[in-house]
Amino acid sequence: MIPVLPHKQIESFLQQAVRAVLPGADVSAVLVRPCDPTFGDYQSNALMSVAKARKMNPRQLATDVVSKLEVSELCEKVEIAGAGFLNFRLKPEVLNATLQSAARGEHLFFGKTSQPRTFVVDFSSPNVAKPMHVGHIRSTGIGDSIQRILRLLGHQVVSDNHIGDWGTQFGKLLLGWKQILDRPALERDAIAELERLYKIINAECDATPSRLEEAKEELVKLQAGDLENMSIWQEMIRLSQVQFDTIYGRLGAKFDHALGESFYNPQLGGVVADLLSRGIARESEGAVGVFSDGSMPPKEDPFLVNRDGEWVADPALVRKSDGGFNYMTTDLATVDYRIKTWSPHEIVYVVDDRQSGHFKKLFLTFGRWQPVVTQRVKLVHVGFGKILGDDGKPFKTRSGDTVKLSDLLNEAEERAFQVVSEKSTELTEAQRREIARVIGLGAVKYADLLPNRQSDYIFNWDKMLAFSGNTAPYLQYAYARIKSIFRKAGDVSPQPSALSLSEPQELALAKHLLNFGLVLEAAAEDYRPNFICTYLYELAGHFTTFYENCPVLKPEAAEFKASRLQLCDLTARVLNQGLEVLGIEVVEQM
Ligand code: ARG
Repeated sequence: MIPVLPHKQIESFLQQAVRAVLPGADVSAVLVRPCDPTFGDYQSNALMSVAKARKMNPRQLATDVVSKLEVSELCEKVEIAGAGFLNFRLKPEVLNATLQSAARGEHLFFGKTSQPRTFVVDFSSPNVAKPMHVGHIRSTGIGDSIQRILRLLGHQVVSDNHIGDWGTQFGKLLLGWKQILDRPALERDAIAELERLYKIINAECDATPSRLEEAKEELVKLQAGDLENMSIWQEMIRLSQVQFDTIYGRLGAKFDHALGESFYNPQLGGVVADLLSRGIARESEGAVGVFSDGSMPPKEDPFLVNRDGEWVADPALVRKSDGGFNYMTTDLATVDYRIKTWSPHEIVYVVDDRQSGHFKKLFLTFGRWQPVVTQRVKLVHVGFGKILGDDGKPFKTRSGDTVKLSDLLNEAEERAFQVVSEKSTELTEAQRREIARVIGLGAVKYADLLPNRQSDYIFNWDKMLAFSGNTAPYLQYAYARIKSIFRKAGDVSPQPSALSLSEPQELALAKHLLNFGLVLEAAAEDYRPNFICTYLYELAGHFTTFYENCPVLKPEAAEFKASRLQLCDLTARVLNQGLEVLGIEVVEQM
């Protein structure tokens, strides 16, 4: 069932009123949003743009609309403010009723969308034979959160891990495997061993042209389907996948598919031939590329770069001069496959901002290649910035190496264990380990989701593991604290009908709960899980203020106990659900 939340009802009445005044008007942008509590609970500023588009006086339009607006069962008198804002204040009984229906389990302040869409979400996408590094926490965490939010709102999601399992590096890896493989080391830590092979052979290839030739021969044999090379290559993928899956298991990230780049190999020749025959790509210096079509100002044109004040071609290469294909070719085949296979409304790529040029070229090239299809599918690059160390440079280990994701997660759990052991001496070691796992992983993920994703952020253990401030441990602690209230309260059976609010702190908390769905929708709309972080942090703040001012279990407040316990419970449920879509677990006790 789709719960009818008050702001949605107000919104739909408002849209009806606008249509009554302006028959045929497009009301899809007539929205109602939470506002500064000094003005009310919700506001709509939409009438101003509606009036502007029709050269009407916005205050007059607002007055006319309000005269047709029947919301007296939901709100106090509607106020027209400023140039034509409408302010709405909910009636207390409406607030109570909404909380009661939530307490009965009918909703949790959000509804499933009435217009489900299908999304393909491409995220994480590490490369085979290389360890996942700290940067992968970004794509994995943001992408997983986006898929969780979309699913929760009732959309269809196909998550696909576009693993880098093809490319020239396999020539070197095959040579290394055949000549210097250390089997026991491979069994201990396959990716470390593959990395070692690659480093040695790569250095040799740089120094000795004949070694490079040998590596190329291995690659050519692989590309030609040589059985031995194919089976070694498959073994490398399998071993890498085992390690990726271990990390995904720890992070709780799930994929519906992991169709690696190699999956598209059979299509690549056809893609290039098609682009050539349609005149979208052309040959240049033996290679094949897609060039600017001159339809954009040079500054915005990804197929041009400025060199010494002059705009020169920066084509999207789809075939190399040696006949090999490019990252771009695979991505073009991938878009085509995804659209044909899953008919998505959107394909979302959660990939580092350094690849934004690649995605601009990809989307434009695909648009030229399949103009009709492009009109019904939205292609989006959800980019993100870098993780920096204290020195403001990309985050590295002390010795200057990239930080391996598995090491980072181990350290997070270890550090959390120290913190938990200091705080909770009464718990057994096994309990403390489990709490530390949840807190440590939660802290790292949350710190990564909290900033605007396009900003770089500084990695700081102490800050992310602190129990105060906008951190996962703070929110997890808020949750556990509510659970401890219930443990102290003893056996209380739920009484949704007891819910009745009067104190300002109760009202503020309740109104914040009501906004959960709006925040989920906004996060989905902009692919920004950080909106949820901000919301949950504020929720925990409202809860603290409520708890400090409104006794829950004190004998002198017995008459409020049942109602306030319900409010505690709803807060815990929203905290839990909000953290869950961020991919963060909670514990009942800490
Ligand atoms: N494997 C690529 C890398 O590590 C990321 C792939 C992103 N997805 C895509 N469809 N291009 O840079």
